[in-house]
Amino acid sequence: MPRRTRLAILISGRGSNMAALIYAAKAEDCPYEPVLVSGNKPDAPGLDLAEAEGVAVERLDGKATGFWETLHEKLKAHGAEMIALAGFMRIIPRDFLEKWDGKIVNIHPSLLPKHKGIGVHEAVLEAGEKVTGASVHKVIPKLDSGNILGQVEVAVMPGDTVETLADRVLIAEHQLYPKVLSDYLGRFSDPEWLTEQVAQRALALPETLAKTSHGSPAWRVGSKSSGKFFAIMWIRHHGEDHVGLLVKCAGQDEMAGLIEADPDLYFRPQYYGPSNWIGIRIDRPDTDWEHIESWLYRSWVECAPARVAKLHKAAAEF
Ligand code: GAR
Repeated sequence: MPRRTRLAILISGRGSNMAALIYAAKAEDCPYEPVLVSGNKPDAPGLDLAEAEGVAVERLDGKATGFWETLHEKLKAHGAEMIALAGFMRIIPRDFLEKWDGKIVNIHPSLLPKHKGIGVHEAVLEAGEKVTGASVHKVIPKLDSGNILGQVEVAVMPGDTVETLADRVLIAEHQLYPKVLSDYLGRFSDPEWLTEQVAQRALALPETLAKTSHGSPAWRVGSKSSGKFFAIMWIRHHGEDHVGLLVKCAGQDEMAGLIEADPDLYFRPQYYGPSNWIGIRIDRPDTDWEHIESWLYRSWVECAPARVAKLHKAAAEF
């Protein structure tokens, strides 16, 4: 089983979307695990439900001074890696967003980019829409405007009121949120998606081509006959549950030092380790792809024929 992403859920009220996320996480193959429910209303009904389900709860008051700092500390203390907003009715300040850059998602009861903000169902009825729906999106400083990760349509029925429409959209939200979040987080442990991320970066380097190494996707630099491997995918080998990338490091000392400094990130791959291949885990939601890119480049320089590396280095310096 791949490691589950540690999810915090923030609510302000009833928490029915939170409940949908918690119940979906009871499935064994769900890629996230709710580790904390919190929000800005210490007596939000959803918090009692989370407690009853055995999820840790932090009851915070959004009006208290230092609320955002306290919330950040609680999230860290519970080891949250990702935040799902579920009816969390506070605008998030920019400095908090920066601390959780790219790691916050939200559900909104409209087909974004239509009807942002509040009073959504009123606006839908007033505009005479035939179809509305719900959207799950990444959170950025601009309200309800981040990348859309998934949407579902809901028909507006003749005679619908704000209440009947909100109730029906809510049913659709409960289906949508866990599914979209699972798909989104699932890709971080999906070997195919991860291989594609590495391939794009490896093949962006000069004179490279894809070729398998003992059955694993891998990339070579140099000519077809005399080229050398500089990157190899490490996909759940020898009963391990992780996906990593093997690249060449400077030697055994560097490898030992890196693994000691960050044993969650680096590993010594069986069979490959003795020839200076170091493993880097890439199946985590917080994988730093720029860091991976710099490793690919280092490994490429190490393995490229002198002619190619030299030309490239000269070009880079120029
Ligand atoms: C949901 O309809 C959600 O989409 C909406 O609040 C409701 C919360 O219900 N969120 C927003 O409008 C965010 N701007 P819940 O507490 O039962 O999940």
